[in-house]
Amino acid sequence: MSEHEQLTVVYGAEEVVVGPDDETGVEVLEDAAVAAVDGHVVAVGPTDEVLDEFPVEDADTALDASGQTVLPGFVDPHTHAVFAGDRSDEFVAKLKGKTYEEILEAGGGILRTVEAVRTASEAELAANLTEHLDAMLEHGTTTVEVKSGYGLDTETELKMLAAIDEAGSDHPVDVIPTFMGAHAVPRDVDTEEYVEEVVSEQLPAVAEQGVAEFCDVFCERGVFTAKQSRRILEAGREYGLTPKIHADEFAAIGGTDVAADVGAVSADHLLQTDAEGRETLVEGGVVPVMLPGTAFGLGAEYADARAFLDAGHEVALASDFNPNCFGRSMGFVATLGSVGMRMTPHEAIRSITSTAAKAVDRTDGTGTLRQGSPADLVVLDTPTATHLSYRFDTNPVSTVLKSGVVVHE
Ligand code: NIG
Ligand code: FE
Repeated sequence: MSEHEQLTVVYGAEEVVVGPDDETGVEVLEDAAVAAVDGHVVAVGPTDEVLDEFPVEDADTALDASGQTVLPGFVDPHTHAVFAGDRSDEFVAKLKGKTYEEILEAGGGILRTVEAVRTASEAELAANLTEHLDAMLEHGTTTVEVKSGYGLDTETELKMLAAIDEAGSDHPVDVIPTFMGAHAVPRDVDTEEYVEEVVSEQLPAVAEQGVAEFCDVFCERGVFTAKQSRRILEAGREYGLTPKIHADEFAAIGGTDVAADVGAVSADHLLQTDAEGRETLVEGGVVPVMLPGTAFGLGAEYADARAFLDAGHEVALASDFNPNCFGRSMGFVATLGSVGMRMTPHEAIRSITSTAAKAVDRTDGTGTLRQGSPADLVVLDTPTATHLSYRFDTNPVSTVLKSGVVVHE
C-alpha cells in the first residue's frame, strides 16, 4: 500500500450482507470482514483471509465488529424531506376520520406546507433538512433522494432545490435532488394552466440551473391526470431529467402505463396496482417503490409487495418521509415491510439497499458490498441481519461509514 491510500477494515462481523442473491433476498457471509481503499471496497470474505491481505496494523480505520452485523448503507429512494411548518394537527384530524384527500381538497395537506415553505428562507429550509439528514444517517441511511414540490411556483421550487443542494453538499449523506413542481395544483389555479407553467417556466428554469436529476409527478385522482403527467415527464426528459412517478396511491388512473411509456426509473406508492399494472411495470423495466410508512401512518392497506416478489421481481422500499409520514428510519421501514407486507427480513434489506439504489439509477454498486462498491457501511449492534426487521424499539445502528470513513458512531 502506498502512503496516500486510506485503508479501512471492518472485521470479525457475525454476518456481512454483500448484495442481492439469485432470488429476491440477499447473500450473507458469516464471520466476515470488509476492506476498503480510498472509499471503495477491495475485499469481502472470511475475516482471516481479508486480514491476511489487509492487516489491521496497516489500516487507517479498523473496526472490530464482533457480535455485530455489517450491511451496505441504506438507500432511501423517495422522500419529501425539505419542508417547514407543522402538520401534526392533521394527524389528529385523520384519526377522527378525515381522509388525506379530503384534507388536501380543503386546502390543507401539501398546500399548507406550500404556504410555510414559501415564507421560509433558503437557509431555514436547509437547516431543517440538515436536521433530518442527521437523523437519517444515525439510522443508517447513506444515500437519500429528496424532492422539491412544496413551492409550486418557479421561485420557490428553485429555493427548495437550492436548499437541498446547500444541505446535501455539506453532509456525509449523498443527497439526490428531484424536481416535483407537479406535486399539487396551487390554490385557485386551473390545473391545465398550472401544467403549462410547470412545462414552460419551471422545468426550463430548473434545467438551466442544473439542480435536479429526476422529475416526479403526483399522478392521482383529483391531482394530475395520466395525460398531464405524461406531458410533464416527457418535457422533463427533454431537459435531461429522468422520470419518476407517484402512481396508484388512492386510485389507479393510468400512472403505471405512463411510467412504462416515458421510461420512468421508478413508480412509487402502488397501493391500488393490479396484476396488469404490475406486468406493465415489470415489462417496462420500472422499479416498483413501496412506501409502507405512508400506509402505516394513514392506517391504509399496504401495497402488494408479495405479488412482485413471488413472481421473482424486486421491490424497493422508501421512507416517503414528509409532513404526512414522519418517519426517517429505514430500519423501521424494513420492519413495516416485514410485518405489514410479509417480506422476509432479507427481502426487506435488499429493498432498502441494492433495489433502492436501482430506483435512483445508481449503477456503481451503491447498496452492495462487493469489490468496487462504494464503502458505505452500516454496522448493526445485533447478531444477525434478521434483527433489522425484528427489532423496532431502539435504533440498532451502532456505526455508519461513508466512503470508508466513520461518519456516525
Ligand atoms: O408521497 N402523495 C403525495 N405526496 C407525498 C405526501 C406529501 C404531503 O402530504 O406533504 C407522498 O406521500
Ligand atoms: Fe411522495
